[in-house]
Amino acid sequence: MEDKLHVLDHPLLQHKLTILRDKNTGVKEFREIVSEVAMLECYEATRDLPLEDVEVETPLAKATFKSLAGKKLAIVPILRAGLGMVDGILQLIPSAKVGHIGLYRDPETHAPVEYYCKMPPDISEREVIVLDPMLATGGSASAAITFIKGYGCKNIKLMNILAAPQGIECIRRDHPDVDIYVAAVDEKLNDHAYIVPGLGDAGDRIFGTK
Ligand code: PRP
Ligand code: URA
Repeated sequence: MEDKLHVLDHPLLQHKLTILRDKNTGVKEFREIVSEVAMLECYEATRDLPLEDVEVETPLAKATFKSLAGKKLAIVPILRAGLGMVDGILQLIPSAKVGHIGLYRDPETHAPVEYYCKMPPDISEREVIVLDPMLATGGSASAAITFIKGYGCKNIKLMNILAAPQGIECIRRDHPDVDIYVAAVDEKLNDHAYIVPGLGDAGDRIFGTK
């Protein structure tokens, strides 16, 4: 079976990820780098976008070139931390629509609890990229993807910055059709289901809430 896991280990991504991991990196830099990493990952995650031929007149000649075939895209950040990835992607694809899904992990059970959802009306016709910096147990991303599939979406990708092996297994099991894009896969989860070595609590570090 085609491997749906794409580990994007470009040197620029690895360098930026190391800055994110450093506990001494402050809120401003952390937020900026999350956005940059999302932009770099987006470059790879959109590699299969279809192209069409268009005729263009350069200052020297008329010729046929490639242009995006107008495939409709939506990005869906999982609140809160996924919001940090939105701007980087919109810089590359300014016409993408943005849906939002609010989920938090119950601190006791680690199970995802949904508290907000707002999707573009034509979401079922769009290719969707779900955004969340962290794929830990995979519960939040899996629930978000199930929810988005409920709207009739058929073409869904998941973009994370860091993943744990358990999260990847969860998505592979629950959503074998979904391509996963990550900058790194870490060793394990700790007893609180945090990724180790990881980068800590992504939402708190993006929004300065700790
Ligand atoms: C974090 C993270 C993911 C989730 C990952 O969100 O941003 O959404 O945990 O964990 P999982 O793979 O085990 O589900 P959190 O619940 O801390 O909410 P927040 O983004 O509002 O801080
Ligand atoms: N959520 C985070 O923000 N960090 C983790 O390591 C796991 C879940």
